[in-house]
Amino acid sequence: MTTKAPWSDGRLCYGGDWNPEQWPPEVWREDVALMRAAGVNLVTVGVFAWSRLEPEPGRHTFDWLDRVLDLLHANGIRAALATPTASPPPWFSLRHPDALPVTADGVRLTHGSRDTYCAAAPAYRDAARSIAEVLAARYAHHPALALWHVHNEYGTTCHCPHTEAAFRRWLTGRYGDLDALNDAWVTSFWSQHYSDWAQVGTPHATQYLANPGQLLDFRRFWSDTLLSAYTEQRDLLRAANPSVPVTTNYVLGDWVPVDHARWAREVDVVAIDHYPSAVGSDAQEQTAFAADVARGWARHGAGRPAPWLLAESAPNQIHVAGRMHTKEPGRMTRHSLAHVARGSAGVMFFQWRAPAGGAERFHSAVVSHAGADTRVFREATDLGAALGRLAGTAPGRVEAGVAIAYDAASGWALRHPGMPRAGLDHPGEAAAAHRALWHAGVTADVVPPGAPLDGCRLLVLPALYLASDATVDWVRRHVHAGGHLLVTWLSGVADEHARIRLGGYPGAYRDLLGVRVEEFHPLADDEHVPLTGGGTGRIWSETVHPAGAETISAYAGGVLDGRPAITRHRIGDACAWYVSTRPDDDTYRRLLTEAAGLAGVTPTCPGAPEGVEAVRRHDGLLYLLNHTDRPQRVPVTGLDLLTGATADGSLTVPPGGVAVVREEPS
Ligand code: GAL
Repeated sequence: MTTKAPWSDGRLCYGGDWNPEQWPPEVWREDVALMRAAGVNLVTVGVFAWSRLEPEPGRHTFDWLDRVLDLLHANGIRAALATPTASPPPWFSLRHPDALPVTADGVRLTHGSRDTYCAAAPAYRDAARSIAEVLAARYAHHPALALWHVHNEYGTTCHCPHTEAAFRRWLTGRYGDLDALNDAWVTSFWSQHYSDWAQVGTPHATQYLANPGQLLDFRRFWSDTLLSAYTEQRDLLRAANPSVPVTTNYVLGDWVPVDHARWAREVDVVAIDHYPSAVGSDAQEQTAFAADVARGWARHGAGRPAPWLLAESAPNQIHVAGRMHTKEPGRMTRHSLAHVARGSAGVMFFQWRAPAGGAERFHSAVVSHAGADTRVFREATDLGAALGRLAGTAPGRVEAGVAIAYDAASGWALRHPGMPRAGLDHPGEAAAAHRALWHAGVTADVVPPGAPLDGCRLLVLPALYLASDATVDWVRRHVHAGGHLLVTWLSGVADEHARIRLGGYPGAYRDLLGVRVEEFHPLADDEHVPLTGGGTGRIWSETVHPAGAETISAYAGGVLDGRPAITRHRIGDACAWYVSTRPDDDTYRRLLTEAAGLAGVTPTCPGAPEGVEAVRRHDGLLYLLNHTDRPQRVPVTGLDLLTGATADGSLTVPPGGVAVVREEPS
């Protein structure tokens, strides 16, 4: 498959979701004039427009969309045209009550919001294919069309009879016979042995703890089911015009029953929606992590280098802990460019114009309820100009010597009930390792297990609970090729079915790490264990027996007093570290700096002050993001593409500002 991208003229994509179906034509014209003023070149249209496109079954109303696409084209703006299948109209739900989703508690949901469908229900799939097909027939060759955007944020689940039947079919394909399923799910426990496929169901609400193998497979099955809902639309769209790329926007978070790395093979562009769940510096750390995750999916998940795009982000406000926070001036631009620095093909907002009503009437928008004479619109216009100055800088690969492994299924398995502690969080642990490196100024890749590790000197496994034989082999090959390894608690404890690897933890990596873990001692939320050499451990601790490894830091106090907390095992010239607790942020930063340093990985821009994020790309660009409220001098020589300033040995990046330097040898 070729790499298809929604840009062809060297420009970065810039725009957002636009909902002309909510407005009369005079507002469309005003919007398009404002888009031009802001430098917008791509808008996502039609995401939730099903009831406006098919007001009655089989009766289509395309006149408005014809006019919208023609208007965009006349103004040099391209369209990411959505299939509207994330929001079936009320008529659909009334006609096909069996296609309404059922919760694990057995409650059938009714129409009234969005996403009220079961992706395994034949009626839903037929209707979704049918609307995609008519859109393809009408618009596949429209000159405004740049990208097909299928659906919106696949992620809802269901437990209806259609789903149960599909789950059984999927399990039959995976296991072949019931013996294999019984073995994988360890159904000898609690008398769960299945003697007939009819007994096997989805994990409905049940009396006490559910079977971990069943829960895990249900997630995998549902990811595949949603993927097939996507691919059947994609195939129709592709058939109508193979040159137009097709994607769907990913919603991030391990509550989503979607294995985005696997899905990367099926999209032409990995598209993510990113809304930090925090304000302040946490938001920039989350931004860097999300961007690196997306880059990893695009580069490694796809099996070919695919582009990636920030498909949704908030122009001004984000919701955190039930409250709306307004981004201070400069943050939106800086965070948008942080995504571009890490390889995004552009910046897209949710949403262009704030709706006058509806559930998301107060959601962030470029054109707010106050209109366009606003700070956010002016900042969006400045960002458009900045992106214009970066035209010709095709999304480049990022230089990184560390790779952090990230795997959806490990995240799902750690969330299962019956774990030694609640709140275990593989993505959170991956983000914590990334954050520690981010503060150390070291750029990391985030990769799915099995990804090629070319250029990776240090591989980090952060609570990567599941280890298939293939994953174990991947880690071994890295170490035996001289790569360094850092493994944190709970990694490699179970196989791909969530069955424990016996003989002492972490069963998959004991020999590489030179340790054997005998017992877990999970910590309370507010508990901290002092470590020798300074710092503390949180969340987790365990009884570690060295078996070849040296102790770098021990627990100081409590039941594990004097026992190893962090160990290092020499394998040839490489080191295999084991970290049996979550070090506090400073300790983790120092630890990862040391582990990276021993692996020969240094900060991306040595000498960049604290608070300045530096990302260096293979295309010779160095992005410098000043997250502080003071001007910062950075040692660099080259041309700042954003201001045209030349730097000869150093450049001052303004408070909250960004520089994109085409470096020259100093
Ligand atoms: C996204 C979703 C959008 C909108 C937005 C609000 O996850 O795709 O449709 O709901 O969140 O934050």
